[in-house]
Amino acid sequence: MVNLGDIFPNFSAKTTIGDIQFHDWLQDSWGILFSHPADFTPVCTTELARVVNLYPEFVKRNVKVIALSCDSVENHKKWCDDIKVYGGCSGDSFPYPIIADEDRELATTLQMLDPDEKDADGIPVTARAVFIVDPNKKMRLSILYPATTGRNFDEILRVVDSLQLCDKHKVATPVDWKPGDDVMVQPSVPDSEVKAAFPCLMVVALPSGKGYIRKTPQP
Ligand code: BEZ
Repeated sequence: MVNLGDIFPNFSAKTTIGDIQFHDWLQDSWGILFSHPADFTPVCTTELARVVNLYPEFVKRNVKVIALSCDSVENHKKWCDDIKVYGGCSGDSFPYPIIADEDRELATTLQMLDPDEKDADGIPVTARAVFIVDPNKKMRLSILYPATTGRNFDEILRVVDSLQLCDKHKVATPVDWKPGDDVMVQPSVPDSEVKAAFPCLMVVALPSGKGYIRKTPQP
């Protein structure tokens, strides 16, 4: 089991761009690994198409994306044509690689299996996992959706924005935050230092009298 803050395993895998070693492929980028039950399935196709369309947004944020599905490279390549057409994308190439995890070895190692969804042989398929890895190869986010629920990739981008912002400044992002909204000063910043660091600070008055909600415009 990989926990937040752990170094993400440097696995090797067959992919649509050839064999990779995860850390070498990442170089000094952020990385998002997202998994799928199988090729040529409806929800997965919508998700991969959405990521094709959002791809420039990931590039802007220095994030490399890689998908995983429990099928062969050959099938992945055929599926990519469907995904591009479904997503209304032109161009011959597919912007990001897909891992071929036919025997579910990686899915098992990373605990991504969904026991409630089985393939024709009765073997559990891969659920919809998302792992975000930072340039130091540390795992920074892990979410696991069931096979029957498609993910929201705008939310994944929002998390990347929050992680990158909070790595740079001692702030945290509140509920439903969107880039440009006010943020919170992290509780670890002492009141004695907060005004100098955040001159536009607004402390919210609360019945407890404790000034712990310290808002500031997004740095
Ligand atoms: C799908 O991608 O549509 C799907 C795959 C496995 C189980 C349920 C849905």
